[in-house]
Amino acid sequence: MQAIGGGVPAPAPPTPDATLRAPWDSSATQSAPPSLRAVGVGMSFAGLHALSGVDLALKQGTIVGLIGPNGSGKTTLLNILSGVLAPTDGHVFLGDTEITGWPAHHVAARGIARSFQNIRLFGQMSVLENVEVGAALRRRTLLGASLRHAARAMLAETDLLDVAERRAATLPYGVQRRVEIARALATQPTFLLLDEPAAGTNEAESDELRELIAGLRREHKLGMLVVEHDLRLIMRLADHIVVLNEGRQISEGTADEVRDDPAVKEAYLGRRSMAAEATVAG
Ligand SMILES: Nc1ncnc2c1ncn2[C@@H]1O[C@H](COP(=O)(O)OP(=O)(O)OP(=O)(O)O)[C@@H](O)[C@H]1O
Ligand SMILES: [Mg+2]
Repeated sequence: MQAIGGGVPAPAPPTPDATLRAPWDSSATQSAPPSLRAVGVGMSFAGLHALSGVDLALKQGTIVGLIGPNGSGKTTLLNILSGVLAPTDGHVFLGDTEITGWPAHHVAARGIARSFQNIRLFGQMSVLENVEVGAALRRRTLLGASLRHAARAMLAETDLLDVAERRAATLPYGVQRRVEIARALATQPTFLLLDEPAAGTNEAESDELRELIAGLRREHKLGMLVVEHDLRLIMRLADHIVVLNEGRQISEGTADEVRDDPAVKEAYLGRRSMAAEATVAG
């Protein structure tokens, strides 16, 4: 008599099937992402081409400056890279993984953090609590005291410990921008996207911000995309600058290369100097 089950191979234990897994499931095997890339990205809003055919690559440990006149598509590109918007054309890659159209929280969970052009802090919460929200995103197992400890470490790094218990809304604009950066950093990102971090800051605050951003690149090897109208800041900070105009990439290169590019002068700097001349003439 044959033993029960004899000769019949035991069913194989279920193996995770990659095709059944949501693409953003972090149980998928992954190596450190070498780059965040936009490839041929386009975005139309009801027929308005906010972006067309934009390519951009962000590597760890480098700072890319993204500049261009108002309405040229800078925030739209940042929204696409961070999953806030799905592009109507093109692709976004994190390393070898295509993340085009992934929801923002899944993009954030893979190490892409951002700040917002219009500050989005929880105004009634303390600075420490705001940063704890960021810390909780990547460290779901941390609770209470440990979360607080992680957030305080981030406040120390961004020089915000002395305002830790202050309500965010009561702080000067420049400090709020720093808190946004601290909250983004608390998510332990690999890539950090900053939308006009120096907007509303004075010259001293802008210099402090430059030191903070340069320090983050140095200490954490972050890859950073910095959108800025403060050209003094961006020209000193960025390894590489990409210039948009009316949704198209019109130039890229080092600060000197971009500064000397006639297309940039015409589209962006030209407008500024024309505006300055108009002010002087007026
Ligand atoms: N959600 C939206 N719906 C419709 N149009 C939009 C939307 N978001 C952006 N736009 C349009 O897309 C274009 C690019 O806007 P975007 O905010 O990306 O420019 P920007 O370069 O960040 O400008 P700024 O320097 O003023 O912040 C603009 O014409 C804008 O009005
Ligand atoms: Mg913008």
